[in-house]
Amino acid sequence: MTRRAIVAANWKMNGDLTLVDTMVSSLKDVELKEKVSVVICPSSPYLSEFVSKAKAGSLSAAIQVGAQNVSEHVSGAFTGEISTQMLQELSVEFVIIGHSERRSYYHETSTQVAHKVKAVLEAGLTPILCIGESEAERVTEQTETVLASQLQPVIDNVGIDKFIDVVIAYEPVWAIGTGKTASSEMAQETHRFIRQFLAQANENVADKVPLLYGGSVNASNCEELFAQPDIDGGLIGGASLQVEQFKVICSAAKGK
Ligand code: PGA
Repeated sequence: MTRRAIVAANWKMNGDLTLVDTMVSSLKDVELKEKVSVVICPSSPYLSEFVSKAKAGSLSAAIQVGAQNVSEHVSGAFTGEISTQMLQELSVEFVIIGHSERRSYYHETSTQVAHKVKAVLEAGLTPILCIGESEAERVTEQTETVLASQLQPVIDNVGIDKFIDVVIAYEPVWAIGTGKTASSEMAQETHRFIRQFLAQANENVADKVPLLYGGSVNASNCEELFAQPDIDGGLIGGASLQVEQFKVICSAAKGK
């Protein structure tokens, strides 16, 4: 096996202290296969609480914590922003970067996403870099062009060798929160394209980067999606707020 699998929970602007508590207690007995990590990404006010509860509850080291966003700046007059150093201090290990909701509602560009990935890597944290096409782009057969245009600025900014420490989440925008999952064949085909795209720059790195699928993953479709050769886990939104369903998804992931 050369590649680890990751199941990341993107709570978005949902959840509360009760969910933190319930999730930590319920993850105590989650059954994970070899080489699988689970990353819980609550809203930033709950990061600290999640980390301390996880420590107090002696959660497995395979269960880690991530933020949903971070500033590309080191520090200074950026009201409302959170720095990589602050996340480090809280023992946060992953950061979701460039989620389509941030790209569309907050106008994050691929250049800004590239700066954020660089800041996260420089701080020794792991970025979960999100990419994905809209429905109109899929229908007009622009998927590959769009994904390449989202990946290339990051490769140019951090260098392909650094991708060894990057996790990529492919999330077709039309599948997020809609209940419309990409078929496992379509997801696999797109994941293969992403791996091949990285391989043009560095084959060894491409082989090791975990590629997660996201978009309406649930307890019923996760097994088939995770069985695909280029799908190394998932980025889970809605279903990650339902503890029992989320545990089923975690148990279905396997390293390749
Ligand atoms: P969803 O969200 O699982 O609710 O579709 C996934 C995501 O946006 O990361």
